[in-house]
Amino acid sequence: MEPERRWLRLRYIAGVMVMFASLLFSLAASKSGDSPTVQDLYESLESRMGYWLILGNTRHCGLYRKGQISPFPIAKAQRAMEEKMYMRLNLKPGSKVLDAGAGSGFVAIYMARKGLSVQAVDITPHHLADAKKNVKKHHLEDKITVDYGDYHDLDALPDASFDGIYTMETFVHADDPAKVLNNFYRLLKPGGVIVFHEADVVRLSEKFHHIMRLSHCQNTLKQGGYEKLIKDAGFINFTLEDLTEEVLPLWRFFGILGYLPYQLFKLLGIQDRFINVMAGVESWMNWGDGRYISVRAVKA
Ligand SMILES: C[S@@+](CC[C@H](N)C(=O)[O-])C[C@H]1O[C@@H](n2cnc3c(N)ncnc32)[C@H](O)[C@@H]1O
Ligand SMILES: *[C@@H]1O[C@H](CO)[C@@H](O)[C@H](O)[C@H]1NC(C)=O
Repeated sequence: MEPERRWLRLRYIAGVMVMFASLLFSLAASKSGDSPTVQDLYESLESRMGYWLILGNTRHCGLYRKGQISPFPIAKAQRAMEEKMYMRLNLKPGSKVLDAGAGSGFVAIYMARKGLSVQAVDITPHHLADAKKNVKKHHLEDKITVDYGDYHDLDALPDASFDGIYTMETFVHADDPAKVLNNFYRLLKPGGVIVFHEADVVRLSEKFHHIMRLSHCQNTLKQGGYEKLIKDAGFINFTLEDLTEEVLPLWRFFGILGYLPYQLFKLLGIQDRFINVMAGVESWMNWGDGRYISVRAVKA
């Protein structure tokens, strides 16, 4: 077997074992509320293990050639998604950007290497700790600062202080999307840009509604929603690129990987406690009900 294959098989076996372990844990812990907070979501053992084992703690989709089947190497496709974000921002080296919801900091690190100066914020404590560690490891402390920051409340940051603001799969979690956009508008210099790489919904089924509530994504996902929200906040030159086909390889992989565990969880009636597995499998099985989009707009 090629090394990558073997490594993946090991990770798959490890992943399944971890899911069983977390099953025991979650049965014992029984913390599953009907509307978990963002921190509940990312702090669950399932999220921590899944993101670590499959995505190396970079918590966003890869970007692939249309029609590609294999999702490997995943990290390369994730860098391609970061490059896409960088191209969409279209900023000069030295520009200052806000990474709103930076996770473990890998997108910020990519942008810093491209010459941007990054202020990274997040609300999940272990992501912040991880981001600080990763920035230090890459010797980018002079290019990236990492702080606690909720994008609903960025009062500590001065008006007109950024050339660009981006969200990589984080704006979906917003409780009050209009408020977040007003904050971003205030923080940008005139001519400053926002770029969001996010999901939205084409057909909202009952099941998806349920999954979105459990993944704390209940307020942003409506087709056409982003355009209206963004224009209402005063932004101009809205553009949208549909990248759905270009993220399919990874989601197909999630769907296949999670299929058997998901059937088992359903049999036991505990699928709600494995929200990432459920979302992965259901998204793949109902492909086309959602989109993966890159939206960009400019402060007038
Ligand atoms: C799917 S992860 C993406 C992380 C990172 N952008 C990446 O691509 O690896 C979503 C992140 O958004 C953060 N987040 C959610 N709501 C937030 C908020 N209100 N303010 C700041 N960050 C938030 C979460 O803590 C999490 O780290
Ligand atoms: C908006 O788009 C128009 C037409 O493409 C362009 O002329 C203008 O410079 C853009 N405005 C900003 C602020 O980017």
